[in-house]
Amino acid sequence: MTSVETQERIARLRAEIAAHDERYYRHARPEVSDYAYDALKQELAELEARFPDLAAVESPTQRVGDDRAEGFVRAKHRLAMTTLDNTYDEAELREFHARLVKAIAADDLAYTVEPKIDGVAVSLTYEHGKLTRAVTRGDGEEGDDVTANVRTIRGLPKALRLADDLLAPATPDLIEIRGEIFLREAEFQRINQLQEEAGEALYANPRNLAAGTLKQLDAKVVAARHLEIVLYGLGACEPAPETLGIDAQSALQSQLRAWGLPVVEKSWAVRGIDAVWTAIGELDALRRTLAYATDGAVVKLDRLDQQAVVGYRGAGQAARKLSPRWACAYKFAPDRAETRINAISLQVGRTGAVTPVAELEPVLLAGTTVKRATLHNADEIARKDVRVGDTVLVEKAGEIIPAVVEVVLAKRPPECAAYVFPTACPVCSTPLVRETGGVKWLCPNAACPEKVRRKLEHFASKSCLDIDGLGEEVVDLLLSRGLIRTMPDLFRLKVEDLLPLKKSGEVWAANLINGIAARRTADLWRVIHGLGIPQVGAAAAKDLARRFRSLEALAGASLNDLVQIDGFGEKTAEAVRAWFDIPANRALVDELLAAGLAPSSPAEASAGAALAGKTLVLTGTLPTLSRDEAAALIEAAGGKVSGSVSRKTHYVVAGEEAGSKLDKARSLGVPVLDEAGLRGLLSGDAL
Ligand code: IVH
Repeated sequence: MTSVETQERIARLRAEIAAHDERYYRHARPEVSDYAYDALKQELAELEARFPDLAAVESPTQRVGDDRAEGFVRAKHRLAMTTLDNTYDEAELREFHARLVKAIAADDLAYTVEPKIDGVAVSLTYEHGKLTRAVTRGDGEEGDDVTANVRTIRGLPKALRLADDLLAPATPDLIEIRGEIFLREAEFQRINQLQEEAGEALYANPRNLAAGTLKQLDAKVVAARHLEIVLYGLGACEPAPETLGIDAQSALQSQLRAWGLPVVEKSWAVRGIDAVWTAIGELDALRRTLAYATDGAVVKLDRLDQQAVVGYRGAGQAARKLSPRWACAYKFAPDRAETRINAISLQVGRTGAVTPVAELEPVLLAGTTVKRATLHNADEIARKDVRVGDTVLVEKAGEIIPAVVEVVLAKRPPECAAYVFPTACPVCSTPLVRETGGVKWLCPNAACPEKVRRKLEHFASKSCLDIDGLGEEVVDLLLSRGLIRTMPDLFRLKVEDLLPLKKSGEVWAANLINGIAARRTADLWRVIHGLGIPQVGAAAAKDLARRFRSLEALAGASLNDLVQIDGFGEKTAEAVRAWFDIPANRALVDELLAAGLAPSSPAEASAGAALAGKTLVLTGTLPTLSRDEAAALIEAAGGKVSGSVSRKTHYVVAGEEAGSKLDKARSLGVPVLDEAGLRGLLSGDAL
């Protein structure tokens, strides 16, 4: 590479990695596998090492990915929360050991080998034995205060179990304990199922869902998902850890366990690098039996005094501490397999998005037979030059749908032609249009049979109208017989229309018609959700129903009205307005109402109407009401309970031990009430 090319490559890698960091850390929705990401980072680190002139302080190799998000109070770590160097290469792991041997002048060094948990890093603070704070890594110096969310984790003691024994080590005045928050596979599946039923986007793997959950502003949502935690590291500690009997990583594990905290299920105490390598092999063999996804092994120099000798990368210079020299993560390469692409099929979604899918020669991958893999979009197919007939590498790195990683060019048959992404909808032949500012190709035809089918299925589904007996099969049947075309058609169906469809189908027909009739008065939010407005999932639909109370009022809402809703950004507000600005959509709403749909508005906040349209935040412990009871009273009075304080919060209700939310309320000038003040509001007293 010429120096200009090198410079360009470095700039491109930095920009690409920064974009991936943003998606991974802030949005919990990475686009590439960890393995692909690590490869980019490794390439950049190597280039920067070879061309030190081109190294830069603002390079992604010189910082930890920043997870801080809107809506949280920031909190500083007492001791920086660094990340780890990682490698996929045994030789590099042995070099790590060789460096330590040299620095410490001893060769049978003691190590702890632990599972590397693929979760979300968090730092807990216990003061005088009580859990006072939980903070995400953030930029390593300062993270988001997620205490309310972390307190919902059932397996995490809010107080350390202290030995009733004079000889037991003293309780630390303050200790930061680091660990990883995760979701079990079964819980991940359960939540994704609910997401699907609610028409919300699915998460690709348990880590992303755990990260997305931890950054929920509403602790009630978090409590409904069973996050778990495992602890493995030490931050600040007063007095010094040695005075508490913690002089090694292995001793830390024992002490954490003695305090009743959850620690890694399995770890290895070994001497020398050969024994480390054997332990890693054992971990690889059993890792799929662990509660958490394990993407590697963390090898730690056991003794704290030896850790102190080698210290941290990046320390000493102006730059911040980056990663410990006393630890190394060895990552397991993802499961990959080679197979052939028999065809590329195209799926048309409810919104018209056309998604390409590779139909594969079935292949065994990570214990399951894989027949299909996502090709993401047209740009991805072109970038990888994927062709029908190609042999490709497919990878499954914890994601639900395997992905095509690359083409094995050496095995490309000569007759195999470049794939041409269609310019027309594979179902209705309407020319496709490119999503503005995005990568998707969309079928713009509102009458596209596939879009219509998927829209109707969505409308009738559990998370929308929830019509008994109207599943995908019945929707297909009604469509294919020409009995329905649009949502309003459902309400015009009669028993006689259905009788010819099934032999002796009288009972079935009557039940279906009754089922549809019974849902004419479905909750307004279900109808709003069923309309399929872009950006509007179940939660946003509930907000809209609460605020506007009728379809007519919602249809007339201005952009300004819409952005006022707590939790609505400009993007959502614009999507709603734009949807109602399309005449065909307005006509659809009118037709639904004319066909007899009469959605039920959310319960009137009768006596306590004082809270209608008001957002309240609860913090701390109230003298007589539990958090759930207080929330129920507020909601019954038409108010909304939110998990975080913003300028749009009307009141903060603070009890004992109220923390950062109270500070934020004060700094924003949001009125603060105690329980008596809340009761006053509920009984209609104006403040
Ligand atoms: S120790 C000074 N131990 O993996 C940093 N980290 O990719 C010490 N991780 O930043 C970290 N399992 O968030 C440690 N057993 C384990 C771990 C672990 C997962 C995370 C942690 C770390 C990241 C590095």
